[in-house]
Amino acid sequence: MPPALDDLAVAALVGLAATARERAHAPYSGFAVGAAVVADDDRVFAACNVENASYGLSLCAERAALAEAVARGVRAVRAVVVVAGGGEPPRPCGACLQWIAELGGPGTEIVSVSIGGARERASLRDLLPRPYRLGSEGAGDR
Ligand code: THU
Repeated sequence: MPPALDDLAVAALVGLAATARERAHAPYSGFAVGAAVVADDDRVFAACNVENASYGLSLCAERAALAEAVARGVRAVRAVVVVAGGGEPPRPCGACLQWIAELGGPGTEIVSVSIGGARERASLRDLLPRPYRLGSEGAGDR
């Protein structure tokens, strides 16, 4: 398992996620979120949430960052940092946890940071202990 992010790395990632958050398109919820993803080759990809007038089409910051990483050739990530407003650290939603499970593993680090200062560090195994996995039924066996 790769080493945990040190404090300096976390600080830099929070900065990148916070900058991405400033570009959030969140006119419906008013809740701006930024995320930074660390790939297994240490490249970092940051993104913001992108809402839509058809509310259900809105995209979370974490999934936007993961999609950007994949488009740049990433197939595995080791950490995700999420930054949002409010008093509580912003835990990724269930859909985002499932996306993190696709590219990460039980030890993937998730760092949640509220602009107000509250922080939480967790592993994917803590937040989504038993992710959905597509078994052999997904290989076209109908
Ligand atoms: N949101 C994220 O970007 N990440 C999450 O993990 C949860 C929620 C966004 C979606 C929506 O634009 C806004 O926060 C309010 O739910």
